[in-house]
Amino acid sequence: MWKSASVIASLLGTMIAQAQAQSTPKVLVYTATAGYRHDSIPTAIEVLGDNAQKYGVEFTFSEDRSLFTDQNLATYDGVMFVSNSDEVLDESGQAALQKFFQSGGVYTGVHGASACLFNDENYQQAVGALFDYHPPIQDATFTRINNSHPATADVPDRWSFQEEVYHFRSNPRDNGAVVLLSVDESSYVNNGSSTGNYPSMGDPHPIAWYIDQPLSAQPLAEGVSKAGRSFYTSLGHLNSTWQNETFITHVMAGLKWALDGGSTKAYGVGLVGNGNGSNSSSSTTAGSSSTGGGSSATSSGSGSATQSASASASSAASSGSSSKAVYTAQIPGKGVAMGIGMIGAVGLGMSMLL
Ligand SMILES: *[C@@H]1O[C@H](CO)[C@@H](O)[C@H](O)[C@H]1NC(C)=O
Ligand SMILES: *[C@@H]1O[C@H](CO)[C@@H](O)[C@H](O)[C@H]1NC(C)=O
Ligand SMILES: *[C@@H]1O[C@H](CO)[C@@H](O)[C@H](O)[C@H]1NC(C)=O
Ligand SMILES: *[C@@H]1O[C@H](CO)[C@@H](O)[C@H](O)[C@H]1NC(C)=O
Ligand SMILES: *[C@@H]1O[C@H](CO)[C@@H](O)[C@H](O)[C@H]1NC(C)=O
Ligand SMILES: *[C@@H]1O[C@H](CO)[C@@H](O)[C@H](O)[C@H]1NC(C)=O
Repeated sequence: MWKSASVIASLLGTMIAQAQAQSTPKVLVYTATAGYRHDSIPTAIEVLGDNAQKYGVEFTFSEDRSLFTDQNLATYDGVMFVSNSDEVLDESGQAALQKFFQSGGVYTGVHGASACLFNDENYQQAVGALFDYHPPIQDATFTRINNSHPATADVPDRWSFQEEVYHFRSNPRDNGAVVLLSVDESSYVNNGSSTGNYPSMGDPHPIAWYIDQPLSAQPLAEGVSKAGRSFYTSLGHLNSTWQNETFITHVMAGLKWALDGGSTKAYGVGLVGNGNGSNSSSSTTAGSSSTGGGSSATSSGSGSATQSASASASSAASSGSSSKAVYTAQIPGKGVAMGIGMIGAVGLGMSMLL
């Protein structure tokens, strides 16, 4: 009986270690603005929070630039910039972000994410290309040029809605981007004008893209075998867009694809992310319940709050643009739930044996 118990205990250890290696990826959603502020930011936060569980990610929502330190970013698998503007990080924050990318950290950007940090070359390499201008918002038809990528698998071939058609300061393909969406140039009136004398953004007109091995991750840190992926979409100006299921699938599937590149601790590898990496599998017992929580990382910001996904959504929506608080959409990781479930089951089995 003792033997069975120890066999079960070591089995339990292995199972916990496996569950740990598959913990829920944690993503810092950064909506800070230093210039223009989108009134759709609260809607974006609410909708992302509502979709965290469905896509198996854990979001922390913040506009607090002091979270961009080596130590804090190391607890995240990805950063997601949403509708930012201008210089939203100081130099030390930019350096921490660069280190995060070099450590396998994942980048995702939405809409104004390309309209910030104009002087940060590393950030430009992560996003792919920076915003130049857009003509006035109007109906436009976006065209799908890749129907197999998860971010566009559910997008129609011709997708028409009211949007700002972004033009860029460079060709994201020069940074390794594979373009997923373009725009039918005859579907809108382009009477905007460029803010400078920039190189061509390439043809067809890039609207959304991914980068498998962004230059922002080079050189990779020691012990990192793989760059974190990048995904960017320029869509997402209006509330109505954020409320559209096709759009949110585009964004969430793009984010999930980037995380699923498997360059971080939630996937059992790397130096950053939610979990202890593959090296944790050598320990046989104990401590699995701490893996998915991760709320300690967010408790440092002023006025921070850790809440369930639905609670964070409503409070974030009502807090409006003054929000500097941190909201965590805390979704128990599948791995943790599994681990705890197994502790229960094996505990019951052991008490029956003993
Ligand atoms: C978008 O939604 C936010 C609240 O979620 C609201 O404050 C804002 O006024 C809305 N914008 C428009 C144009 O309706
Ligand atoms: C479409 O995306 C997939 C990745 O999901 C990639 O393998 C493929 O090369 C892309 N196709 C084109 C035409 O870019
Ligand atoms: C561009 O066109 C829109 C709609 O036709 C118009 O409202 C706007 O004033 C024009 N802008 C410029 C810079 O011509
Ligand atoms: C795992 O162990 C290897 C070899 O000891 C080391 O190089 C690597 O950095 C470790 N990874 C983590 C995430 O600690
Ligand atoms: C979302 O957008 C798609 C594509 O434009 C459209 O077919 C669909 O009706 C929209 N859904 C809602 C709820 O507005
Ligand atoms: C990683 O492992 C160390 C040592 O076993 C432990 O102290 C720490 O809390 C773990 N961190 C996480 C995020 O699980």
